[in-house]
Parts: sequence; structure tokens; C-alpha cells
Amino acid sequence: MPKKNSTKKIVKIILITLVIISVLIGGISNLIIKSKTETDVLVFYHWWTSPGEQAAIDALTDVFSKKYPQTTVIPTPVISRSEGGGGLTLFELVKPMVFSKEAPDAFQIHAGYETKTFVDANLLENVDSIWRLEKLMQIVPRVVQAMCQFKGHYYSVPVDIHRTNVVWYNQKILDKYDIKPNELNTWDSFFEACDKLKQAGIKYPIQMGTTWTAQHAFDQIIASIGIDFYEDWVNGRVTYADDPRLLEAFYIFERYLSYVNPDNLNVTWDQATRRIISGEGAFNIMGDWANGEFKASEQVYHQDYGSFKVPGTEEMYGLVIDSFQRPKNIQHPRNSERWLKVVASKEGQDAFNPKKGSISARIDMNLSKYDAYQQSAILDFLKIKYMFPAVSSGLPKGFEQKEQEVIGQFVQDLDEDKAAKAITDYTKLTFSDYTITWELD
Ligand code: GAL
Repeated sequence: MPKKNSTKKIVKIILITLVIISVLIGGISNLIIKSKTETDVLVFYHWWTSPGEQAAIDALTDVFSKKYPQTTVIPTPVISRSEGGGGLTLFELVKPMVFSKEAPDAFQIHAGYETKTFVDANLLENVDSIWRLEKLMQIVPRVVQAMCQFKGHYYSVPVDIHRTNVVWYNQKILDKYDIKPNELNTWDSFFEACDKLKQAGIKYPIQMGTTWTAQHAFDQIIASIGIDFYEDWVNGRVTYADDPRLLEAFYIFERYLSYVNPDNLNVTWDQATRRIISGEGAFNIMGDWANGEFKASEQVYHQDYGSFKVPGTEEMYGLVIDSFQRPKNIQHPRNSERWLKVVASKEGQDAFNPKKGSISARIDMNLSKYDAYQQSAILDFLKIKYMFPAVSSGLPKGFEQKEQEVIGQFVQDLDEDKAAKAITDYTKLTFSDYTITWELD
């Protein structure tokens, strides 16, 4: 009996052990299967929420979806341009997600310092393989390449080249009051045209939006003082509050603001552009993403609207390069790879940029897809004398935020000395943050 019992016991133990082993093996194999199967989803973040921007990102997403119809694409817009600088809200959102391994598969970012902030914080994978596979080194202009490269690696894939130093105007208003845009190439002649329009009953000839758009206008004024001054500005070398070039920029800005809509703080950038379309104002300084807004409203270049360079910047091309990259700890690496390839592709860029208002970041673009403004921008880009990075790409992020604060204050109190002191004090204090040296001349 005892023998029988002990045999039974042994059989039981073996059975239990087998069950445990099979559960364990099952569990492990389940785990293995789970980690091998990537859900067929693509999640990317961006801040393109205006009608023109939406049309552009939809066009790019369509190219992806045609190639990979089975993939669920989740473009996630994060409104972040109202304050704090391009993408600040988005970036603050993404950073902790990288740490908690929930990062989106890509997100929109400016090339230059903005990307560098993420590279320095070790939050991005390099995307050298995409650059190699798509042969981007041969077709992306050198200046753009340099802005996407850090420590010998590429960390972002450029999707466009935007120009910053553009004045947009309502064609019918200028025709009606016999104002010739090509004659508005000095601040004096520009302000004379504004006076003329004011006298004719257009209360606020210049339409401007919230603080970052004021900052945008001010940065173009800085460029209008001269490329040497802009070079000093982006390299942290404007450090004296009594620098006559800086004070001159603030004086021009004060004159500029005297023609601006007083409700600017509550106006988004694209609303300001649409006020040019409606005829409420005649001029708007804005990057050529505004071109996308005119197009989304079915306006025709040289018929309904037009553009000229910010006075004094005719020989310059201010650069904003939007790009996507791959954060660390993403959940869908295969789709991230596919997305970046679509972003890099000629087809993707030729779908996105004609709607975005910008030009392709590839020199082999299909010209016939671009409008008259864009075609002239492409020619300009190829032959322009000077290029300069916008503040979002060209200066440490902290500076961009500080400048926005100073400009926001200046719009209220118009105090040149106070603003010049605040900005130069900050530059001196943070000089060690300037780790890129720009040679613009
Ligand atoms: C810029 C961005 C552009 C445009 C603009 C307004 O920072 O580079 O693509 O979208 O903001 O949202």
C-alpha cells in the first residue's frame, strides 16, 4: 500500500511539475510572441492645426496610407504655437513619454538647436539609415543637411524648407491704392504705404497675431539691419544694451506696431493671414506657411494675394526646416521607419509642400506641382546670397523663450532700453549654451 501511495504521489508530483512547466513555457512563448508582433499602428505628433497645415499633413499621410493601407495611422495634433515658442507644449509632452517607453513613433521638430536639445538629452535614435537608403546626402541642400546633423549623425529627416522673411499682401487693396509692392524695399517706403492705407480708412494695415508672431516680425527686422548683425544675434554676440543696431531694430519695430491691430494677442497666426484675405488689413509678415493658408482659402497668387521680401532682406533667405525623427523607446519601429521613408521621399514631399506653402527639402522636386510663389522661392533659394536660420533653429531654446517674453512686454510698453537690456543681459548670462557657430556671411 504505502508503495502504491508513494507511486501515486510521484505521478502527482510529475503531473503538477509538467503543468507548471507547460504554463511557464506557454507564458514565455506568449511573451516572445507578444514582443515579436508589432501592432500595425503609426502614431506621430505635430502642431499643424490651421486649415493649410492640415491639408498638407493630410496629403502626406495619404501617401503613407496608399502604400500601407492596412496600417492604422494616428496623427496627433498638439496645439502649441499660442505661447512658448514652436512646439514647446509638444516637446514637454513627448519628453516624459520617451522615458516611460510610450513615445510616439515620430514627431515634428525644427532642425538645428531644437533637434539638438533632444539629441543632447539622449532622447533620439539617429536616422542615418534613412538618409542612406533614400540617398538624401545627394539631394538635400547642404545647409539643410548641416542643420539635421549632430556629432557626425543625422537625427532628423527634413520635410520642407520654409522662408521666414516674407511680407504677404492683399493684391486688390494694393492695386486700388496704387501701391507698388516692388517699391516697398525700405522700411520708410513700407511705412509710407501703411500711412496711405490708414488715410484711406484701413485702420490697421498690418495684421499681426499673438506673441510668437510679433517675435517672428521682430527677428525679420533684426535681419533687415544686416546679415552681420543677424550673425552676431544667432551666435550670442549681441551683448550690449546700447548696441545701436539692436536699438534701431526696436525703433523700427515700434513704428511697425503703430500700424498693427490692437487685438493681436488674441489672434492666431492664421487668423491674421485670413484678415489679409478678407481685406481687413493689407500686410502680414509671416513665414511662407502663410502661403498654405492663402491656398486653403482658394486664393490665387498675383491675382488675390502677393508677397515681397521684408524690407532690407532682399538678398536673404530666412530658414525654417520642419522635420521628423525617431524618438527612443517607440512602440512601432517598423512603421516609424516606413513613415520616415515617406517623409524623405520625393512623392511625400511633392504631396506635402505644394499645400504647405513651402518648397521641398529635395532639389529633385517636380516643379509643375508648385505654385507661382513657390517656383520663385525655389529660384531664390538656389541663387540667394545669404541664408539665415530662424530663431527656433538658430538659437538655444531658452533664448527663444526669453525673447518671446521680452517682445511680449515690448508690444505693451514700447520701452526700447528696457527690452534691449533684458535681452542682452540674458544673452550674457547664457553664453555657454551657444554650442553651434553659424557662419552666414
Ligand atoms: C512653424 C512651423 C511651420 C508652421 C508654423 C505655424 O514653427 O515650422 O511649419 O506650421 O510654425 O504653425
